[in-house]
Amino acid sequence: MAESFEPKIVVFCCQWCSYAAADLAGSMRLQYPPNIRIIKVPCTGRVDILHILKAFEYGADGVFLSGCLLGECHYVEGNYWAVNRVKRVKKILASIGVEPERVEMYFNSAGMGPQFAQCCIDFTERIRRLGPLRHKKSTESPDAIPVEVGA
Ligand code: FES
Repeated sequence: MAESFEPKIVVFCCQWCSYAAADLAGSMRLQYPPNIRIIKVPCTGRVDILHILKAFEYGADGVFLSGCLLGECHYVEGNYWAVNRVKRVKKILASIGVEPERVEMYFNSAGMGPQFAQCCIDFTERIRRLGPLRHKKSTESPDAIPVEVGA
């Protein structure tokens, strides 16, 4: 069963470095798994804990953030914030019985197309080994969830 499992992987890429690295990987015709869904963000520091958890809620089996090299974030310390948020998500996942390895932080500069492709290959293999994330996927709009007023 695990051999036929094709994980869904969400990748938050900062627009300055890692998205350019993904672009370069494409231009170099480097192969990386089609399991990757890239979301371009201004900076990995813009990715909130809730964005990562929502990706899992909506069906991702793994999520990684790919930002500029440490010390080279275009917003100075955004990728340091991202590192801390990824650490916190790992703790949250562990506390609810989900493997913390399902979330990761990588750093790829604009010239690191091959390394970006390798991150995609390695992470996809990691998630393939872990198997599908079993949870009840949310199909409801958050507006449909009843809220108790005054609770
Ligand atoms: Fe790339 Fe902040 S701009 S991680």
